[in-house]
Amino acid sequence: MKEENAALDPGARAAAEQKARKAARDASRKTGAEETTAEKGAIAPPWERGAEGIELVDTHAHIDGEDFDGDREEMLDRAKAAGVVAVVTFGDTMESSARCVALASSHEAVFAGVGVHPENAFPLSQAEEDRLAAWTKEKNVVAIGEIGLDYYWEKDEEKRALQRKMFSRQLALARDLDLPVCIHDREAHGDLMTILKTEGRKNRGVIHCFSGSWEMAKELLKLGWYIGIDGPLTYKNAAKLPEIVEKMPADRLLVETDCPYLSPLPYRGKRNEPAYVRITAERAAQIRGESIEALAAQTTKNARMVYGL
Ligand code: NI
Repeated sequence: MKEENAALDPGARAAAEQKARKAARDASRKTGAEETTAEKGAIAPPWERGAEGIELVDTHAHIDGEDFDGDREEMLDRAKAAGVVAVVTFGDTMESSARCVALASSHEAVFAGVGVHPENAFPLSQAEEDRLAAWTKEKNVVAIGEIGLDYYWEKDEEKRALQRKMFSRQLALARDLDLPVCIHDREAHGDLMTILKTEGRKNRGVIHCFSGSWEMAKELLKLGWYIGIDGPLTYKNAAKLPEIVEKMPADRLLVETDCPYLSPLPYRGKRNEPAYVRITAERAAQIRGESIEALAAQTTKNARMVYGL
């Protein structure tokens, strides 16, 4: 793969590498399919269970991609039937950011973030930065994201340095525009905390799909960040997540899907979608000893606060 790519120009090479990473990610998303079969109980999908008194926001989704090209409107109808009153969809490239802006402008319940994901990091031109800024003036565009650091997929030191540079630039852009950011952090906790404690001190927003310890969560809370929790909360190997959800102050907790990835049980290994945020919310409510209605109301209030929905 590497040698084959060496013959390509930098742009084509980046595209080829991105494609390879997507394939690996798609494959990893399919693991756990056995658990899906075993866990499939009698519970009906969220949109068939009624949603009276339940108002949820899926605060982190990717609904612009081809995974939803076949049923995007039906998927949004199912979310509504499950009690999801709003979906925040995030771009991970310039192209997907443009698609998210279009979805937000054509759907009342869809909001968008624009940004370049660390897995797709490239040296952003001034024109591209200006385009990101211009998109934030469009209808229902509420954040800069998804941005951040991913050292799980990226092992190359130079490219990790490029990720940090891109992250810094987009944090600065968000400060200039006075907008919240949505941050991806995978196996980059140390560098993330260093950046947030220095140049990121005046940024605000969400650490999405949180995967750190309670100690790290406490530091983030002290710095004013919100924390987003996803489908892995429902997995048998949820590790530290239940403890974190139990201890989280109510006013900083958000629920999200990160769809089409990270489906909660019993859909693990299948395509995720915004309606399934209810399953993660139900698990969080159970852990915290609250009703789903109360947890939904609080997390939706938090979502409105941080993203100004
Ligand atoms: Ni994401």
